Amino acid sequence: MQRILTGIQSTGIPHLGNLLGSIHPALALAKKSPHPALFFIADLHTLTTQHHPQKIKHFTYATAAAWLAAGFDTQKDHLYRQSHIPQVCELTWYLTCFTPYPMLSNAHAFKDKAKQLSHVTAGLFTYPILMAADILLYHATHIPVGKDQQQHIEITRDIARTFNHQYGPLLTIPQAQIKQNVAIIPGTDGRKMSKSYHNTINIFDPEPTLAKTIMQIKTDSTPLNQPKNPDTCPLFNLFQLLATPTDAQQMRTNYLTPGYGYQAAKKELLHLILTTFSEQRKTFTHYMQAPHLLEKILQASEAKVTPIAMKTLSTLRKAIGIRP
Ligand code: ADP
Ligand code: TRP
Repeated sequence: MQRILTGIQSTGIPHLGNLLGSIHPALALAKKSPHPALFFIADLHTLTTQHHPQKIKHFTYATAAAWLAAGFDTQKDHLYRQSHIPQVCELTWYLTCFTPYPMLSNAHAFKDKAKQLSHVTAGLFTYPILMAADILLYHATHIPVGKDQQQHIEITRDIARTFNHQYGPLLTIPQAQIKQNVAIIPGTDGRKMSKSYHNTINIFDPEPTLAKTIMQIKTDSTPLNQPKNPDTCPLFNLFQLLATPTDAQQMRTNYLTPGYGYQAAKKELLHLILTTFSEQRKTFTHYMQAPHLLEKILQASEAKVTPIAMKTLSTLRKAIGIRP
């Protein structure tokens, strides 16, 4: 059975990179599947870098509201908090005992994050094992993620294979689903859009804040009266991702036309974002003002996924030899 699963940390309000790189492709994939998809808020992963209780609470709701705004199907699919299914921690321990230490110390995401921090916790180091448990606990088959998560899925596959080698084919080997055209959405400085680079475009921000962000997108210094190169410009790249092919072609022509400036292109991008996400922005605000509705949706899903987690663990405990 095809089981689609993905998670997003509650480290902030989901940004355009999260939406285009992860949430939208995940929802599109789920729509095509007759089976319920599993989407979750990786609040235990959030703890590796965020220790402020109020922020964790707020961003957990904001992440849930973003999934709902993006079109999450409350009738078919599940949206839950990772921490509310504590079985994931037990599985993490079993998998930890099958994970070679060098595999973790060589992980790109760990090395990148560790470089930016003054002290590095064991939680950050074992982050990929918790992620493997997120996936393997539910026998997930298809994992829609951005390209930065590819190595984590490879690690998950390796751990599952090692475990299966010992106990037989108990864990399902998952596959990453990476959409190439949205694999790396650029941020306002042209690097990968990421909360850790402070270069995000937050489509759920109030309009004046969003406008300010768009106006800050970095462009080169080609003078107004000269043609500009759309193919090396993050601003054009962002426009193209959201526009119809005809509008993207028109923007390409504008770039090649002397006299068309980056200021005008930025205004068009802002307009495009506001129209594209108009309904999503309203739905997001609606849910953020009604946390009891979010609680209801999350709790209903948590009740549905718990039995799946319990079943997996019951099989694994027996196989390992710690239950008769
Ligand atoms: P951030 O880097 O901002 O902390 P997360 O690590 O929370 O983002 O990412 C959540 C999901 O969104 C992951 O599947 C990730 O691959 C995807 N994602 C994040 N940023 C981008 C981006 N710039 N382009 C494409 N996908 C992205
Ligand atoms: N590590 C992922 C990220 O930062 C979030 C995540 C946690 C995840 N567990 C997962 C993604 C399981 C897919 C499947 O984006």
